[in-house]
Amino acid sequence: MKIFIDTADINEIREANDYGLIDGVTTNPSLIMKANKDGKNFKDIVSEILKTVNGPVSLEVVSEDSREMIDQAVKLHNLGNNAVIKVPMTLEGLKAMKTLKQKDIPVNTTLIFNPVQALLAAKNGAKFVSPFVGRLDDIGEDGMSIINQIKTIYANYDIKTEVLVASVRNPVHVLRAALMGADAITIPYDVIKKLALHPKTDEGLAKFMGDWKKVSPDGTLPL
Ligand code: E4P
Repeated sequence: MKIFIDTADINEIREANDYGLIDGVTTNPSLIMKANKDGKNFKDIVSEILKTVNGPVSLEVVSEDSREMIDQAVKLHNLGNNAVIKVPMTLEGLKAMKTLKQKDIPVNTTLIFNPVQALLAAKNGAKFVSPFVGRLDDIGEDGMSIINQIKTIYANYDIKTEVLVASVRNPVHVLRAALMGADAITIPYDVIKKLALHPKTDEGLAKFMGDWKKVSPDGTLPL
């Protein structure tokens, strides 16, 4: 399963990249707003991300009109070969996706909340679909259940669009995505850090380090 980081914060991206875990990045206008608080302009923020990460970086259009979406998508894609364009799952978005497919500009269809939306996005050539599982959980549904349904539909028709689990809130979302065979998942920085940690790992390590000091009082490895 590919792991993307769901942020526009370059410090978080750099640190997660150093862990060797990051296959790509997803952003959205709200995440850009957060990264923008220290006065950095949009182009600088995204250009730095595109340079830092060796993998797809999703950048979102900010229009509800298909012609404007296409125009913005072309400009965003010109910023870097690894730019993938996030287009919202609307009727105008579908029109834009069709044209972007003809132009060979990769699309990540965003704001997917049911499996049929994912089927339509795939028919219009989306490279990724982003089902927002956490926001479905927020309204009392089991967000992850649509991942299984999308996987089944895509398998039925041999669809190559990648299922990118989004709106991830906790490590259990990540576990379930992996068990369901999701192609990719985009995870906030704080959840990425939680994935690696376990209290029994910390406890076991503390015991090993303590015991080692009884063998080598300065804690070094005498080689
Ligand atoms: C997806 O690509 C979105 O950026 C993101 O996952 C939305 O998550 P949220 O519901 O936590 O805002």
